[in-house]
Amino acid sequence: MSHSAHIFQNRDQKWYGGNYVYSFLALFLLLVARFIYQSLNSPLRNVPGPFLARFTRLWELQAIRKHDNPTLNIALHEKYGPVVRLAPNRYSLNSGEAAKVILGHRNALDKSKYYHTFGQPDAFNLFSETRLGVHATIRRPLAQLYSQTALLSYEPFVNTCNSILLKRFEEYAENGKALDLREMMQFYAFDVIGEITVGSRFGLMEAGDKSGIIKVIDNAMIYGAIMGLIPEWHWWAAKATLILNLELGFRKIPDFVGYHLNNRVLGRNKLPEDRSDFLDKMLRLEKEGKATRFHTEESLTQNITAGSDTTAIALTTAIAYLYMYPNTLTTLRNELDAAAAAGNLSDPVTFQQAQKLPYLQAVIMEALRIHPAVGAPLVRVVGPQGLQTAGFFFPPGTEIGVNAWVIHFNESIFGPDAHVFRPERWLADNKEERAVLDRNFLSFGNGARTCIGKNISLLEMSKVIPQIVKKYDFQIQENAKGQKFSWKTRWFSKPFVNVVVKRRSQG
Ligand code: HEM
Repeated sequence: MSHSAHIFQNRDQKWYGGNYVYSFLALFLLLVARFIYQSLNSPLRNVPGPFLARFTRLWELQAIRKHDNPTLNIALHEKYGPVVRLAPNRYSLNSGEAAKVILGHRNALDKSKYYHTFGQPDAFNLFSETRLGVHATIRRPLAQLYSQTALLSYEPFVNTCNSILLKRFEEYAENGKALDLREMMQFYAFDVIGEITVGSRFGLMEAGDKSGIIKVIDNAMIYGAIMGLIPEWHWWAAKATLILNLELGFRKIPDFVGYHLNNRVLGRNKLPEDRSDFLDKMLRLEKEGKATRFHTEESLTQNITAGSDTTAIALTTAIAYLYMYPNTLTTLRNELDAAAAAGNLSDPVTFQQAQKLPYLQAVIMEALRIHPAVGAPLVRVVGPQGLQTAGFFFPPGTEIGVNAWVIHFNESIFGPDAHVFRPERWLADNKEERAVLDRNFLSFGNGARTCIGKNISLLEMSKVIPQIVKKYDFQIQENAKGQKFSWKTRWFSKPFVNVVVKRRSQG
């Protein structure tokens, strides 16, 4: 090649390089122009929100990083009003009416793809299936396994775990050591849900979490909370995990379930005649052709992942608040003492008896209200018709969500003392007042996608709280910041409460 040709080629290359830069610049400007055009023409252009949220998903990401989605979400609404922008196509609503429309039964909206990240990327379960129509076909046959009748068959499993829990409290009362209340409640809730689901405890109350199963759920929730903001990456992340053979522990619960399922199918671990667990009932559904083996595996796994941390959070909150608000504890104890004196309270307390104790039920509702287990907005996607609500028209495809924390701390709904633990609010004589509270109670979600396991949690709470408060006092210890009750949120808002256990007579 001659010298001059070489120079010519170099010049040529330079020219092509410049061309690429200009092309990219043009493409970038085009995208910016499209974004500005869409923003200016969007019916949602006037929705206020943090600056970052207009262009990126970073605002939500930093709320998760700070472990404080509930407080930050409430603060956003206090600053900007009932409709705020969380991300370019995601909005949070602080309106009871809007919540009903979004989550409600009639014409409710599909879940957003956020939920895919709480399950496998290509096979959806009851929780992660986003389409309401498909969801209904999964939910219909399962509903009877969570019904009031089914609950009666689960009660003996709860009794077994309650007596183990009380034994553990007795040991702590004896040795005077500080107890991590949330951890113990998690051990309890895991063991109960293991018993109810597959007739077998994890043994956490007795031996602690040696296999690290609690961490597995924590990791899954961190994954879901973050990946849920970029669900288009879920499939790739799952595939990469498989290809790289990364051991994230996510198989631990399905493996536990699979072990018990196989043993039951092969007739190796029959239950006593007088007991029937969830697994028994699922196998019956399979025989009747109402469920597949996939549904069985998924619903057993789901019971454990969705029904353990949540119940533990609610129980920790109920106990901690009762002891932080001694007047509520006294009122509850008076109710229990009166029921016992009238011969209406056995040991163990039955679910039927507990349901007839209005103050106990009010305490449970108030604990669930003041500290919802799910700290993130429940996000849905607007259907093809668009949606007019809360003063805005949301075009098809917009993601809109309602955070239970935001609604529960809304003073126009729950009153100026919304931030106070006051079970009495649930005992209002006025039926309409009570109906407003019920309508806006979102701890279990609402509508078609409402928590299917709600009654199981209420069964556990209704039976174990009376047993605990009848026998024990808890001295709540302050943390280094002087707080008795603190919490951290990824998807679940997990409280931190340290206590010293005393027998009631010592209190
Ligand atoms: C205090 C305890 C509990 C709380 C606060 C709670 C909370 C919730 C919430 C908020 C939802 C709806 C999520 C959404 O709409 O985005 C939900 C759904 C669900 N929960 Fe619970 N839950 C609890 C206990 C349980 C238990 C004990 C089980 C199982 C035994 C369970 C299984 C489920 C399932 C399977 C769904 C999905 C239902 C569907 O989409 O049809 N939960 N839960």
